[in-house]
Amino acid sequence: MKTVVLTGMMGSGKTTCGLELARRMHREFLDTDAAIERRTRKKVAEIFAEQGERAFRDLETQVCLELSGKENLVVATGGGLILRDENVAALKKSGVVIFLNRPAEAIYDSTSMRERPLAQDGREAFLRTFAQRKPRYLETCDVEIRACSTVASTVSEILKRVGGLL
Ligand code: S3P
Repeated sequence: MKTVVLTGMMGSGKTTCGLELARRMHREFLDTDAAIERRTRKKVAEIFAEQGERAFRDLETQVCLELSGKENLVVATGGGLILRDENVAALKKSGVVIFLNRPAEAIYDSTSMRERPLAQDGREAFLRTFAQRKPRYLETCDVEIRACSTVASTVSEILKRVGGLL
């Protein structure tokens, strides 16, 4: 069955919901940022600081190409992964893409941005980034899910919506 791929802004709950979704679906969970950190033995913030965003994006594409065609996983993606067409195409080969849509204001006000290199310019910049990216999240997803008040209810909603697509 198809892999479930979670996309959305940093802090939208992709990893938290992805872990719970994987548990409920009895599937293996993979987080693309964690895969990159394991491979490079560096934190995402270090890669950005030492090698720049382009190098990080190339690593992200490598992970997507490796995941292409793999089924039965739950994958949480980094917030900017959908910016490259080739990443989306690779993941869609065997995946259903779910955009976890949580209001950017709620994200910024409730999430630690300390380890997120692209969220260091303040609230307004964060909201602008989301506004710029939102059309891209929408056009690349198969299903849009509005994040619910709890992880459990968000995951239930994902399961309900994804059922017929796997
Ligand atoms: C990024 C989001 C981060 C991470 C990197 C870049 C982005 O992942 O991939 O800092 O461009 O939105 P999370 O969405 O898991 O925070």
